[in-house]
Amino acid sequence: MERSVVLVKPDGLQRGLIGEILHRFERKGLKLVGLKMVSLSDVLLDEWYIHHKDRPFFPSLKSYMQSYPVIAMLWEGLEATSAIRKMIGVTKSRDAEPGTIRGDFGMSQQYNLIHASEDSVNADKESSLIFKNDEIFMWDKMDLSSIYVEEERNR
Ligand code: CMP
Repeated sequence: MERSVVLVKPDGLQRGLIGEILHRFERKGLKLVGLKMVSLSDVLLDEWYIHHKDRPFFPSLKSYMQSYPVIAMLWEGLEATSAIRKMIGVTKSRDAEPGTIRGDFGMSQQYNLIHASEDSVNADKESSLIFKNDEIFMWDKMDLSSIYVEEERNR
């Protein structure tokens, strides 16, 4: 199974979308293994968005991500990073497909409500930046046998 970090960004918090977003991932069949509200530090954001550090929007992105707290979630599932990326939609919300989170609730490129890890390498890095070991929970999700066939459950 793979893990993916999701952040409900400050605009998602202001728009009252935490429950909606959490509900979508729960109903999808993903397993929640970490959840907290956090204010993102300068140091964390420099590392988190290191690949954007030379982009003109970087200062504005950082101040937006620090404008209010974010909700950090760690979800687990088979090929979870790609499944979640499909559910959130493309970066520019007004171009995102209906049915995706950005497509259903957003219009902006910057205020795009939600972040999700790009791939499993990135997810591991983001998870260690935001969650301490004792904030990640191993628990038996009792409906996994209805969500996956046995061969999938063992991957
Ligand atoms: P995300 O793809 O999750 O991570 C990088 C973020 O930078 C992106 O979401 C947007 O919030 C923001 N972003 C991307 N492109 C632009 C842009 N052209 N102008 C402003 N913000 C952007």
